[in-house]
Amino acid sequence: MTNNDSGGFPDWESLYNKQQVESMPWYSEKLDPDLDEEISNGKLSVKGRFLDLGTGPATQAVQVAKRGFTVTGSDISKSAIYRAMKVYANEPNIIFIVDNILDSRIKDDEYDYIFDRGCFHVFQPGDRPRYVREIKRILKKDGMLFLKCFSTEEKRDEGPYRFSKKQVSKIFENEEFKIERIKETVYQGTLDPLPKALFIVLTNHKSITRL
Ligand SMILES: C[S@@+](CC[C@H](N)C(=O)[O-])C[C@H]1O[C@@H](n2cnc3c(N)ncnc32)[C@H](O)[C@@H]1O
Repeated sequence: MTNNDSGGFPDWESLYNKQQVESMPWYSEKLDPDLDEEISNGKLSVKGRFLDLGTGPATQAVQVAKRGFTVTGSDISKSAIYRAMKVYANEPNIIFIVDNILDSRIKDDEYDYIFDRGCFHVFQPGDRPRYVREIKRILKKDGMLFLKCFSTEEKRDEGPYRFSKKQVSKIFENEEFKIERIKETVYQGTLDPLPKALFIVLTNHKSITRL
C-alpha cells in the first residue's frame, strides 16, 4: 500500500485470493483493545446489531459476536467473505456479506454500532464524503461508530492515509456526527513496531434529508 492519491492500494480481491490472512499486516486474533474497553466498561447500553465494516480476516467480527452482539461482517472482497463464511460457519450470531460501503446495499437504520478498523483510512479523499453519508444512513439515530485509522504520528512511508484528530473531527462533524472520544493509540497486527493510530468514538445525530 502507498500513502498517496495514485490509487496505490491493493486489489483487495486478488490479495485475499492469493495471500493467507495470518500474514497480513492487520491480522490480529484478539479483539481490538480500544473497542474491548468500550464494550467491557459497559458504555454500550444495548446488546444490539453490530457491523464489522471491511471485516477481512473476520477476527474482529467473531470476537464482537462472542461478547453477545448480533454481528454482520461485510467486505468488498468475495474471497475474504467466502473464507470467513467457511472458517466461522459454526459461530453463532454472525453473518457475512459482500458489500462495497461506497455503494452499499445495506438498508437504512440497520445497525446500532459500526466498527471500522482499517477501512476508512484506505479511501481517497474524494471518496470520504460518500463513506460518511453511507455510514450515517445505515447507522441508527444515536448509533455509534468506532473508528480506528492511522495517525499522522505514524511515519512509515508505506501504508494507508494518516489523520490528525483535527482532520478526522472535521470530516465527521460536518455531517452531524458527535465526537465522544478520540485518542492516540496503536493498530494491532503483525507489524513491529505497531503503527500509530487514532481511535475515535462517534455518535450519529441523525437528520438526513431523504428525497
Ligand atoms: C486494513 S484491512 C482491515 C481488515 C479488518 N477490519 C481487520 O481489522 O482485520 C481493510 C479492509 O477493508 C476492505 N475494504 C476495502 N475497500 C472496501 C469497500 N469499499 N467496502 C468494504 N470493504 C472494503 C478490504 O477488503 C480489507 O479487508
